[in-house]
Amino acid sequence: MIASTPIQIERTTTPKPKPPQDKLGFGIYFTDHMFIMNYTAEFGWHRSRIVPYQPITLDPAAKVFHYGQTVFEGLKAYKTADGRVQLFRPDANMKRMNRSNDRMSMPPIPTELALEAIKGLAKIDQDWIPDGEGNSLYIRPFVIATEALLGVQPSLEYQFIVIMSPVGAYYPEGINPVKIFVESHYVRAMVGGVGEAKTAGNYAAGLKAQDAAKDQGYTQVLWLDGAEHKYIEEVGSMNVFFKIDGTVYTPALNGSILDGITRNSVIRLLKHWNVPVVERVLSIEEIYEAGKNGKLEESFGTGTAAVISPVGELNWRGEKLIINGGKTGQLSEKIYNDLTGIQYGKLEDPFGWMIEV
Ligand code: COI
Repeated sequence: MIASTPIQIERTTTPKPKPPQDKLGFGIYFTDHMFIMNYTAEFGWHRSRIVPYQPITLDPAAKVFHYGQTVFEGLKAYKTADGRVQLFRPDANMKRMNRSNDRMSMPPIPTELALEAIKGLAKIDQDWIPDGEGNSLYIRPFVIATEALLGVQPSLEYQFIVIMSPVGAYYPEGINPVKIFVESHYVRAMVGGVGEAKTAGNYAAGLKAQDAAKDQGYTQVLWLDGAEHKYIEEVGSMNVFFKIDGTVYTPALNGSILDGITRNSVIRLLKHWNVPVVERVLSIEEIYEAGKNGKLEESFGTGTAAVISPVGELNWRGEKLIINGGKTGQLSEKIYNDLTGIQYGKLEDPFGWMIEV
Protein backbone atom coordinates (compact mmCIF):
# COMPACT_ATOMS: atom_id res chain seq x y z
CA MET A 1 0.00 0.00 0.00
CA ILE A 2 1.46 3.35 -1.03
CA ALA A 3 0.26 4.92 2.25
CA SER A 4 2.92 3.04 4.21
CA THR A 5 5.83 4.76 2.43
CA PRO A 6 7.94 6.84 4.87
CA ILE A 7 7.15 10.52 5.37
CA GLN A 8 9.28 12.68 3.03
CA ILE A 9 10.73 15.67 4.88
CA GLU A 10 11.63 19.03 3.36
CA ARG A 11 12.91 21.40 6.03
CA THR A 12 12.40 25.13 5.81
CA THR A 13 15.44 27.23 4.96
CA THR A 14 13.81 30.36 6.41
CA PRO A 15 12.60 29.63 9.97
CA LYS A 16 10.22 32.26 11.32
CA PRO A 17 10.77 34.20 14.54
CA LYS A 18 8.78 32.80 17.49
CA PRO A 19 5.97 34.99 18.83
CA PRO A 20 6.22 36.54 22.32
CA GLN A 21 4.91 34.13 25.00
CA ASP A 22 2.46 36.68 26.38
CA LYS A 23 0.85 37.52 23.03
CA LEU A 24 -0.01 34.06 21.75
CA GLY A 25 -3.82 34.21 21.76
CA PHE A 26 -5.40 31.30 19.89
CA GLY A 27 -4.51 30.18 16.37
CA ILE A 28 -2.75 33.39 15.32
CA TYR A 29 0.77 32.12 14.69
CA PHE A 30 1.77 28.97 12.80
CA THR A 31 4.91 26.87 13.06
CA ASP A 32 7.58 26.40 10.38
CA HIS A 33 6.25 23.13 8.93
CA MET A 34 3.05 21.34 7.96
CA PHE A 35 2.11 17.80 6.99
CA ILE A 36 0.24 16.90 3.77
CA MET A 37 -0.94 13.63 2.30
CA ASN A 38 -3.12 12.98 -0.76
CA TYR A 39 -5.94 10.57 -1.41
CA THR A 40 -7.22 9.35 -4.74
CA ALA A 41 -9.71 6.57 -5.32
CA GLU A 42 -7.04 4.78 -7.35
CA PHE A 43 -4.05 5.00 -4.95
CA GLY A 44 -5.65 5.48 -1.53
CA TRP A 45 -3.65 7.70 0.90
CA HIS A 46 -0.20 8.43 -0.53
CA ARG A 47 2.63 11.02 -0.80
CA SER A 48 2.89 11.74 2.92
CA ARG A 49 5.25 14.64 3.44
CA ILE A 50 6.34 17.33 5.89
CA VAL A 51 7.05 20.60 4.09
CA PRO A 52 7.63 24.26 5.02
CA TYR A 53 4.34 25.92 6.14
CA GLN A 54 2.86 27.43 2.97
CA PRO A 55 -0.40 28.28 1.16
CA ILE A 56 -2.11 25.45 -0.70
CA THR A 57 -3.48 25.74 -4.23
CA LEU A 58 -6.88 24.21 -5.00
CA ASP A 59 -9.13 24.23 -8.04
CA PRO A 60 -12.03 26.65 -7.44
CA ALA A 61 -14.40 23.75 -8.20
CA ALA A 62 -12.96 21.67 -5.30
CA LYS A 63 -15.91 20.13 -3.48
CA VAL A 64 -14.86 21.43 -0.08
CA PHE A 65 -15.73 24.99 -1.20
CA HIS A 66 -19.21 24.11 -2.43
CA TYR A 67 -20.53 21.26 -0.34
CA GLY A 68 -18.49 21.54 2.85
CA GLN A 69 -17.10 18.03 2.70
CA THR A 70 -14.42 18.46 5.35
CA VAL A 71 -13.59 17.43 8.91
CA PHE A 72 -11.08 18.67 11.45
CA GLU A 73 -9.58 17.76 14.80
CA GLY A 74 -7.87 19.66 17.59
CA LEU A 75 -5.29 18.36 20.08
CA LYS A 76 -2.33 19.73 21.98
CA ALA A 77 1.38 19.05 22.51
CA TYR A 78 3.03 20.00 25.80
CA LYS A 79 6.64 20.33 26.89
CA THR A 80 7.38 18.87 30.33
CA ALA A 81 9.78 20.49 32.82
CA ASP A 82 12.44 17.91 31.90
CA GLY A 83 12.09 18.73 28.18
CA ARG A 84 9.95 15.80 26.95
CA VAL A 85 7.29 16.49 24.31
CA GLN A 86 3.96 14.78 24.89
CA LEU A 87 0.56 14.66 23.21
CA PHE A 88 -2.75 14.31 25.05
CA ARG A 89 -4.77 11.30 23.81
CA PRO A 90 -3.92 11.68 20.09
CA ASP A 91 -5.28 8.18 19.44
CA ALA A 92 -8.73 9.32 20.65
CA ASN A 93 -8.60 12.28 18.23
CA MET A 94 -7.68 10.08 15.30
CA LYS A 95 -10.46 7.61 16.07
CA ARG A 96 -12.95 10.49 16.27
CA MET A 97 -11.61 11.91 13.01
CA ASN A 98 -12.44 8.63 11.32
CA ARG A 99 -15.96 8.65 12.80
CA SER A 100 -16.36 12.19 11.38
CA ASN A 101 -14.91 11.02 8.05
CA ASP A 102 -17.43 8.21 7.95
CA ARG A 103 -20.38 10.56 8.67
CA MET A 104 -19.22 12.94 5.93
CA SER A 105 -18.73 10.09 3.38
CA MET A 106 -14.94 10.57 3.43
CA PRO A 107 -12.31 7.81 3.42
CA PRO A 108 -10.79 6.70 6.74
CA ILE A 109 -7.14 7.45 7.45
CA PRO A 110 -5.18 4.56 8.97
CA THR A 111 -4.83 5.64 12.61
CA GLU A 112 -1.17 4.64 12.82
CA LEU A 113 -0.37 6.72 9.75
CA ALA A 114 -2.17 9.80 11.11
CA LEU A 115 -0.41 9.40 14.47
CA GLU A 116 2.95 9.09 12.77
CA ALA A 117 2.25 12.32 10.86
CA ILE A 118 1.32 14.21 14.02
CA LYS A 119 4.25 12.90 16.05
CA GLY A 120 6.69 13.61 13.20
CA LEU A 121 5.45 17.17 12.82
CA ALA A 122 5.44 17.84 16.58
CA LYS A 123 9.02 16.58 16.77
CA ILE A 124 10.31 18.76 13.91
CA ASP A 125 8.68 21.91 15.32
CA GLN A 126 9.12 21.11 19.02
CA ASP A 127 10.95 24.41 19.59
CA TRP A 128 7.60 26.06 18.89
CA ILE A 129 5.98 24.59 22.02
CA PRO A 130 5.71 27.69 24.18
CA ASP A 131 6.76 27.92 27.81
CA GLY A 132 4.55 29.66 30.31
CA GLU A 133 1.50 28.78 32.37
CA GLY A 134 -1.40 27.51 30.25
CA ASN A 135 0.50 27.72 26.94
CA SER A 136 0.78 24.77 24.56
CA LEU A 137 1.07 23.83 20.90
CA TYR A 138 -2.38 23.38 19.31
CA ILE A 139 -2.38 20.80 16.51
CA ARG A 140 -5.06 21.07 13.82
CA PRO A 141 -5.38 18.03 11.54
CA PHE A 142 -8.03 18.41 8.81
CA VAL A 143 -9.27 16.67 5.70
CA ILE A 144 -10.66 18.47 2.64
CA ALA A 145 -12.45 17.22 -0.46
CA THR A 146 -10.34 18.40 -3.39
CA GLU A 147 -11.96 16.83 -6.44
CA ALA A 148 -12.85 19.56 -8.97
CA LEU A 149 -16.40 18.52 -9.80
CA LEU A 150 -19.68 20.22 -8.98
CA GLY A 151 -21.83 17.08 -8.93
CA VAL A 152 -23.21 16.37 -5.47
CA GLN A 153 -21.49 13.06 -4.72
CA PRO A 154 -18.63 12.23 -2.35
CA SER A 155 -15.32 13.51 -3.66
CA LEU A 156 -12.90 10.99 -5.13
CA GLU A 157 -9.88 13.06 -4.03
CA TYR A 158 -8.85 14.48 -0.65
CA GLN A 159 -5.95 16.07 1.21
CA PHE A 160 -5.11 15.39 4.86
CA ILE A 161 -3.20 18.36 6.26
CA VAL A 162 -1.82 19.06 9.74
CA ILE A 163 -0.87 22.55 10.87
CA MET A 164 0.24 23.69 14.35
CA SER A 165 -0.08 26.90 16.33
CA PRO A 166 1.50 27.92 19.65
CA VAL A 167 -1.44 29.03 21.82
CA GLY A 168 -2.33 30.64 25.12
CA ALA A 169 -5.80 30.75 26.69
CA TYR A 170 -8.74 30.27 24.27
CA TYR A 171 -10.96 32.71 26.12
CA PRO A 172 -9.46 35.97 27.40
CA GLU A 173 -11.18 35.07 30.71
CA GLY A 174 -8.75 32.07 31.06
CA ILE A 175 -9.89 29.96 34.03
CA ASN A 176 -12.15 32.83 35.14
CA PRO A 177 -15.88 32.25 34.59
CA VAL A 178 -17.54 33.11 31.28
CA LYS A 179 -21.06 34.49 30.78
CA ILE A 180 -23.25 32.36 28.54
CA PHE A 181 -26.38 33.28 26.58
CA VAL A 182 -28.92 30.43 26.28
CA GLU A 183 -29.92 30.38 22.60
CA SER A 184 -33.66 29.86 22.09
CA HIS A 185 -33.99 30.68 18.39
CA TYR A 186 -31.06 29.29 16.39
CA VAL A 187 -29.89 25.69 16.72
CA ARG A 188 -26.46 24.17 16.21
CA ALA A 189 -27.47 20.67 15.13
CA MET A 190 -30.31 18.14 15.10
CA VAL A 191 -30.35 14.46 16.00
CA GLY A 192 -29.82 12.61 12.71
CA GLY A 193 -27.72 15.49 11.32
CA VAL A 194 -23.96 15.98 11.57
CA GLY A 195 -23.70 17.47 15.08
CA GLU A 196 -21.54 14.63 16.32
CA ALA A 197 -19.05 15.06 13.46
CA LYS A 198 -16.27 17.64 13.79
CA THR A 199 -17.14 19.27 10.51
CA ALA A 200 -16.88 22.91 9.48
CA GLY A 201 -20.62 23.48 8.93
CA ASN A 202 -21.43 22.94 12.60
CA TYR A 203 -19.17 25.84 13.49
CA ALA A 204 -20.36 28.10 10.67
CA ALA A 205 -23.95 27.40 11.78
CA GLY A 206 -23.14 28.77 15.23
CA LEU A 207 -21.56 32.10 14.23
CA LYS A 208 -24.75 34.14 13.90
CA ALA A 209 -25.96 33.30 17.40
CA GLN A 210 -22.43 33.71 18.80
CA ASP A 211 -22.20 37.22 17.33
CA ALA A 212 -25.62 38.18 18.71
CA ALA A 213 -24.61 36.88 22.16
CA LYS A 214 -21.34 38.84 22.01
CA ASP A 215 -23.25 42.03 21.18
CA GLN A 216 -25.10 41.55 24.45
CA GLY A 217 -21.92 41.02 26.46
CA TYR A 218 -21.89 37.20 26.51
CA THR A 219 -18.82 35.13 25.64
CA GLN A 220 -20.67 32.20 24.09
CA VAL A 221 -24.06 30.59 23.60
CA LEU A 222 -25.55 27.51 25.21
CA TRP A 223 -27.20 25.36 22.55
CA LEU A 224 -30.55 23.69 23.18
CA ASP A 225 -31.90 20.71 21.24
CA GLY A 226 -33.18 21.46 17.74
CA ALA A 227 -36.61 19.84 18.10
CA GLU A 228 -38.03 21.38 21.30
CA HIS A 229 -35.50 24.01 22.43
CA LYS A 230 -35.67 22.48 25.91
CA TYR A 231 -32.70 20.19 26.38
CA ILE A 232 -29.09 21.24 26.84
CA GLU A 233 -26.57 20.19 24.19
CA GLU A 234 -23.30 22.18 24.29
CA VAL A 235 -21.87 25.59 25.17
CA GLY A 236 -20.16 27.30 22.25
CA SER A 237 -17.67 24.75 20.98
CA MET A 238 -17.47 22.93 24.33
CA ASN A 239 -19.32 20.21 26.19
CA VAL A 240 -21.01 21.35 29.39
CA PHE A 241 -21.24 20.04 32.97
CA PHE A 242 -23.36 21.07 35.99
CA LYS A 243 -22.74 20.13 39.63
CA ILE A 244 -26.07 19.87 41.42
CA ASP A 245 -26.30 18.78 45.05
CA GLY A 246 -22.96 16.95 44.94
CA THR A 247 -23.59 15.09 41.67
CA VAL A 248 -22.09 16.13 38.32
CA TYR A 249 -24.41 15.99 35.30
CA THR A 250 -23.64 16.31 31.60
CA PRO A 251 -25.91 15.81 28.59
CA ALA A 252 -25.79 12.21 27.31
CA LEU A 253 -24.38 11.83 23.80
CA ASN A 254 -27.31 11.64 21.39
CA GLY A 255 -25.78 12.00 17.92
CA SER A 256 -26.07 15.79 17.78
CA ILE A 257 -23.57 16.47 20.61
CA LEU A 258 -19.82 16.30 19.97
CA ASP A 259 -18.15 13.36 21.74
CA GLY A 260 -15.51 15.56 23.39
CA ILE A 261 -12.19 14.02 24.42
CA THR A 262 -11.90 16.49 27.30
CA ARG A 263 -15.54 15.60 28.20
CA ASN A 264 -14.61 11.92 28.32
CA SER A 265 -11.43 12.65 30.31
CA VAL A 266 -13.36 14.72 32.88
CA ILE A 267 -15.91 11.91 33.33
CA ARG A 268 -13.08 9.43 33.87
CA LEU A 269 -11.32 11.74 36.35
CA LEU A 270 -14.55 12.23 38.32
CA LYS A 271 -15.17 8.47 38.46
CA HIS A 272 -11.54 7.97 39.55
CA TRP A 273 -12.21 10.39 42.44
CA ASN A 274 -15.54 8.70 43.29
CA VAL A 275 -17.47 11.88 42.49
CA PRO A 276 -20.95 10.83 41.24
CA VAL A 277 -21.32 11.67 37.55
CA VAL A 278 -24.44 11.15 35.46
CA GLU A 279 -24.87 11.40 31.68
CA ARG A 280 -28.51 11.98 30.83
CA VAL A 281 -30.98 14.29 29.10
CA LEU A 282 -30.87 17.63 30.95
CA SER A 283 -33.44 20.37 30.51
CA ILE A 284 -32.60 24.05 30.86
CA GLU A 285 -35.66 24.33 33.08
CA GLU A 286 -34.25 21.91 35.68
CA ILE A 287 -30.94 23.78 35.72
CA TYR A 288 -32.80 27.03 36.49
CA GLU A 289 -34.89 25.16 39.12
CA ALA A 290 -31.71 23.86 40.76
CA GLY A 291 -30.25 27.37 40.61
CA LYS A 292 -33.30 28.88 42.34
CA ASN A 293 -33.31 26.14 45.01
CA GLY A 294 -29.66 26.82 45.79
CA LYS A 295 -28.67 23.32 44.59
CA LEU A 296 -26.73 24.32 41.48
CA GLU A 297 -23.19 24.48 42.81
CA GLU A 298 -21.02 24.85 39.69
CA SER A 299 -21.03 24.69 35.92
CA PHE A 300 -18.17 24.43 33.46
CA GLY A 301 -17.48 23.83 29.77
CA THR A 302 -14.85 21.39 28.54
CA GLY A 303 -12.90 21.37 25.27
CA THR A 304 -9.39 20.95 23.92
CA ALA A 305 -8.88 24.64 23.32
CA ALA A 306 -10.14 26.02 26.65
CA VAL A 307 -9.62 22.80 28.72
CA ILE A 308 -12.03 23.86 31.51
CA SER A 309 -14.04 27.04 31.31
CA PRO A 310 -16.21 27.80 34.35
CA VAL A 311 -19.65 29.26 33.65
CA GLY A 312 -20.49 32.16 35.98
CA GLU A 313 -23.77 33.33 34.48
CA LEU A 314 -26.54 32.06 32.22
CA ASN A 315 -29.13 34.22 30.50
CA TRP A 316 -32.23 32.35 29.32
CA ARG A 317 -35.00 34.46 27.78
CA GLY A 318 -33.77 37.49 29.70
CA GLU A 319 -33.64 35.70 33.07
CA LYS A 320 -30.15 35.73 34.56
CA LEU A 321 -28.86 32.86 36.67
CA ILE A 322 -25.64 33.56 38.56
CA ILE A 323 -23.74 30.37 39.34
CA ASN A 324 -21.50 30.06 42.42
CA GLY A 325 -21.57 33.84 42.86
CA GLY A 326 -20.01 34.21 39.41
CA LYS A 327 -16.78 32.64 40.71
CA THR A 328 -14.75 29.59 39.69
CA GLY A 329 -15.96 26.57 41.68
CA GLN A 330 -13.69 24.29 43.69
CA LEU A 331 -14.39 21.24 41.54
CA SER A 332 -13.82 23.16 38.27
CA GLU A 333 -10.49 24.33 39.64
CA LYS A 334 -9.47 20.85 40.82
CA ILE A 335 -10.35 19.32 37.43
CA TYR A 336 -8.41 22.07 35.65
CA ASN A 337 -5.38 21.63 37.90
CA ASP A 338 -5.33 17.84 37.67
CA LEU A 339 -6.00 17.62 33.95
CA THR A 340 -3.40 20.25 33.06
CA GLY A 341 -1.07 18.70 35.69
CA ILE A 342 -1.23 15.40 33.77
CA GLN A 343 -0.86 17.19 30.43
CA TYR A 344 2.25 19.14 31.50
CA GLY A 345 3.74 16.02 33.13
CA LYS A 346 3.58 17.54 36.64
CA LEU A 347 1.19 14.86 37.92
CA GLU A 348 1.17 11.11 37.49
CA ASP A 349 -0.92 9.91 34.51
CA PRO A 350 -2.87 6.91 35.85
CA PHE A 351 -4.86 6.61 32.61
CA GLY A 352 -1.97 6.34 30.12
CA TRP A 353 -3.26 9.39 28.27
CA MET A 354 0.06 11.07 27.47
CA ILE A 355 1.96 9.87 24.41
CA GLU A 356 5.60 10.92 24.03
CA VAL A 357 6.73 11.93 20.53
C1 COI B 1 -12.18 22.36 21.18
O1 COI B 1 -11.89 23.04 22.12
O2 COI B 1 -12.21 21.12 21.26
C2 COI B 1 -12.48 22.95 19.88
O3 COI B 1 -12.80 22.23 18.98
C3 COI B 1 -12.39 24.39 19.77
C4 COI B 1 -12.05 24.87 18.41
C5 COI B 1 -13.21 24.82 17.50
C6 COI B 1 -11.45 26.24 18.49
